[in-house]
Amino acid sequence: MDTTAPLPSLAVRDIAIGRPGATAVFRRFKIDYCCAGDATLAAAAERRGVEIEALVEAIEALAPGSDNVPVDTGALIDHLLERYHEVHRRQFPEAIHLAARVESVHGDNPDCPIGLTQHLAFMFDDLETHHQKEEMGLFPMIRRGEVHVDGPIACMTAEHEDVLEQLKGLARLTHDFTPPVGACSTWRALYDLCQEIDADLRDHMHLENNDLFRRMG
Ligand SMILES: [Fe+2]
Ligand SMILES: [Fe+2]
Repeated sequence: MDTTAPLPSLAVRDIAIGRPGATAVFRRFKIDYCCAGDATLAAAAERRGVEIEALVEAIEALAPGSDNVPVDTGALIDHLLERYHEVHRRQFPEAIHLAARVESVHGDNPDCPIGLTQHLAFMFDDLETHHQKEEMGLFPMIRRGEVHVDGPIACMTAEHEDVLEQLKGLARLTHDFTPPVGACSTWRALYDLCQEIDADLRDHMHLENNDLFRRMG
């Protein structure tokens, strides 16, 4: 990353890698940093209708530091598996359980997220298939130093785009993770967890698309 270039002309993915905390800023401004990270910050801001000055100010306000992403490729794969694959395997069953409770207890409330349980179950199922392809196929190939990985990488990148669409559905169903006034603690816990899932999935796909997979280029 050319740190001397002005922020608006840098690629979103390079800012996301080079500036710890930038991914949280991008989520706040709804800038796609995981699947459309090759756009410049200026182009991404324009696409979202975001003031570039406000975005630059938020990024520049971040404290310098390190986000401790492993430099070694094997260690990066270990990190992806422990921090994301295993975490998603705990998050989704809990979210599905909470959503089922909210839908059954509050089904007659107009704000009830009807269909959220089903949407989360569908996402979990799809994600598990995706995880297995990475765990049994692509990641072992990368660890062995195989060079012909373009096909599997293109397949995983395309599946990440599908996940991004599913996340849009999740945000829509939960009104951007905002529970209604007076929502019970289960409902609030559900939306907090859905927001955590959204953040973790975006960071997970960002590290794969923009760090691990680019190392193979
Ligand atoms: Fe993954
Ligand atoms: Fe992936």
